[in-house]
Amino acid sequence: MYNFDKLVERKGTDCIKWDMTEKVYGHDVLPMFIADMDFEVLPELQEAMVKRASHPTFGYTAASPAYFENIIKWNKERNGLDMVKEDIIAVPGVVTAIAFALNALTKDGDKVLINTPVYNPFASTIKGLNRELVTSSLKCEGTHRVMDFEDMEAKMKDGVKMMILCNPHNPIGRVWTKEELNQLVELCAKYNVYLFSDEIHSDICYGGHKHCSILTVSEKAKEISFCAMAPSKTFNIAGLKSSMFIIQNPEIREKIAGSIGAFHVGIDLMAYKATEVCYGHGAKWVDELNEYLYENAKFVTEFCETQLPKVKTFVPEGTYLMWLDFSEYGLTQEELMNKLKDEANVGLNSGATYGDEGVGFARLNIGCPKSMVEQAMKQIKAAFDK
Ligand SMILES: Cc1ncc(COP(=O)(O)O)c(C=O)c1O
Repeated sequence: MYNFDKLVERKGTDCIKWDMTEKVYGHDVLPMFIADMDFEVLPELQEAMVKRASHPTFGYTAASPAYFENIIKWNKERNGLDMVKEDIIAVPGVVTAIAFALNALTKDGDKVLINTPVYNPFASTIKGLNRELVTSSLKCEGTHRVMDFEDMEAKMKDGVKMMILCNPHNPIGRVWTKEELNQLVELCAKYNVYLFSDEIHSDICYGGHKHCSILTVSEKAKEISFCAMAPSKTFNIAGLKSSMFIIQNPEIREKIAGSIGAFHVGIDLMAYKATEVCYGHGAKWVDELNEYLYENAKFVTEFCETQLPKVKTFVPEGTYLMWLDFSEYGLTQEELMNKLKDEANVGLNSGATYGDEGVGFARLNIGCPKSMVEQAMKQIKAAFDK
């Protein structure tokens, strides 16, 4: 059994979560923001990093055969996704992948669709590259959210060129089903829309929910869509900057590879090694991590139901991010975030960051020892009970 209860001192490593709280929140808070975790990494990973770092040369380095083999095996075994080595293109980050895809497949002024609320760099990258941002709000069914296919179709009719999907979805924790994804693929195919599936959270699913990669939906899906994934969220190695495109349509792959080649971007030798080791040795670690996160999520949900009934939340289907609805308090977003940071002394992400639908909400990171989650909830309760 891995020990996810252990509190690891991260201060002094220049990590954003613990070393930048004052900069982000104005004073020291219990940090429950950003999307990395406070757990120790897989022991085999740390050993491999130390071993490689102890060799006194760090020259240009290629991916080992095991890098490709382990990515392929991991995806086959865990997601039923078949791929070959040639489908994989390494990139430092998934947001970098979004930028390359936009650069390769769309041009200035083209419309790009996203479902909101969603991870904010989707919008900023689209706008930053001078593409037109088109949004479709997720529909609420109680605390459950679904895509609004009617609204998306109306927008696609108007000439959308690409859609960026968050699968599983940050911040609302949906693990999209094969049926939902199939409906989306059909819609995109009908209107000639490229479908980019951001699958960075794909390994973190629990409570009986199983990730469905866009590339396993249908033959049509492989034609019009492609995905980016990474070991970064799964194994808590975001700082190592290793991600990858999986592209099975050769035409799309060629265009994107050309765009990446033009910028001469690759990943570094530690990123290659970490990816190889995590996917090669990390299955049990991830299974236990998912069980642990599921317990943390159930704790927060139960805590809100029993101790903070005005805060509405739900157990997500995946990710280690929870979506807390504080709107019953009737505060402005600024008042809410000030109360959380100044009175509760906790650092959460503002829901408004992810789109207008997030006003009244805050995002809580539960990728940490349960004692920290308990402490954060206690502090929130004390502030909101006043
Ligand atoms: C949906 C999603 N995509 C991408 C990223 C960031 O990816 P990267 O650091 O690889 O650019 C995050 C980080 O939270 C995320 O939640």
